[in-house]
Amino acid sequence: MLYVIWISLLLVLSNELSASVNAHSTDALLLLPTHSHAVVSGQRCPAADPNLNFGPVIGIVSHPGDGASGRLSNATNASYIAASYVKFVESAGARVVPLIYNEPPEVLCKKLSLVNGVIFTGGSSKTGLYFEVVTSIFKDVLRKNDAGDRFPLLAICLGFELLTMIVSKDNNILERFSASDQASTLQFVENIDISGTVFQRFPPVLLNKLSTECLVMQNHKFGISPEKLQKTERLSRFFEILTTTADTDDKVYVSTAQAHRYPVTALQWHPEKNAFEWASSSIPHSEDAIQVTQNVANFFIREARLSMHRPSSQEVLDNLIYNYSPTYCGKAGKGYDEVYIFS
Ligand SMILES: *[C@@H]1O[C@H](CO)[C@@H](O)[C@H](O)[C@H]1NC(C)=O
Ligand SMILES: *[C@@H]1O[C@H](CO)[C@@H](O)[C@H](O)[C@H]1NC(C)=O
Repeated sequence: MLYVIWISLLLVLSNELSASVNAHSTDALLLLPTHSHAVVSGQRCPAADPNLNFGPVIGIVSHPGDGASGRLSNATNASYIAASYVKFVESAGARVVPLIYNEPPEVLCKKLSLVNGVIFTGGSSKTGLYFEVVTSIFKDVLRKNDAGDRFPLLAICLGFELLTMIVSKDNNILERFSASDQASTLQFVENIDISGTVFQRFPPVLLNKLSTECLVMQNHKFGISPEKLQKTERLSRFFEILTTTADTDDKVYVSTAQAHRYPVTALQWHPEKNAFEWASSSIPHSEDAIQVTQNVANFFIREARLSMHRPSSQEVLDNLIYNYSPTYCGKAGKGYDEVYIFS
């Protein structure tokens, strides 16, 4: 009998204990600022910072082909943008205008005047009109920044390789690496100062994981070694190396670089794939990996919000990617999941 009472008492006690723990956590929730005296009514919300552009628009340069080896289009003038780049931009609060590389130069020039930053995507084309257009847009990015109009550029994979060729003025500068279809770590250059770079606002825990866990997706056959970048004066004057990565043969390439004097960031890896591409089983999709996508997108669009250029909104609407429809091509189990095709 006593034993039963004792057990009941214990049960009551433990219930009270857990109730008080719950009450405690509810108290903590009730301490949100909205429940204190400092309630801010809609009318008293502070005005948006006039020095920032809260409607940034990003130009993405289309790449020759249909992105699906002819499965979607064989048109000789077809070009494409993988939808993952568009979603990447949208996920951070910006919209996209496609810069269709083979449109007449005056159309391309007009569209370039409607955007607050540019992305050079991955792909394979390094010659012909595409190379010329990327070169001329890159020069325009530098001119805009030199003129005081902050205008960021994010160059991904092939985009980085093209910048390496353009900045060095050497179309044979790239080296071969075995880094197709693999997730990797990023090794930070010793004593590197990450302020002002893509990594600045990464949560410290995530930053550490980048060098120990395979959180970024690589898919390239070319690149540049840190030695070659450093000893090529045009490149070392333009770029600072932030991270390196070893390929499957333990050959080391530059995986992240930042321009010294321009908001130009070059990634040999694919920040957009973690959250938005599913064809390869090597693409990391863990919560940490998704946070990598989100942090890079937030960094780039934060840069674009510094662009004060405000084009006419009707012209922007007429040219947004929403005027086009993406095609789902993920069922083939290779390449991209969705692409925008322009032909
Ligand atoms: C493009 O050409 C290839 C080879 O002839 C063919 O297999 C494919 O179906 C074509 N694509 C389209 C969209 O018609
Ligand atoms: C591609 O060719 C078609 C047919 O000749 C033409 O209507 C279209 O405007 C061209 N597209 C581009 C982007 O040059």
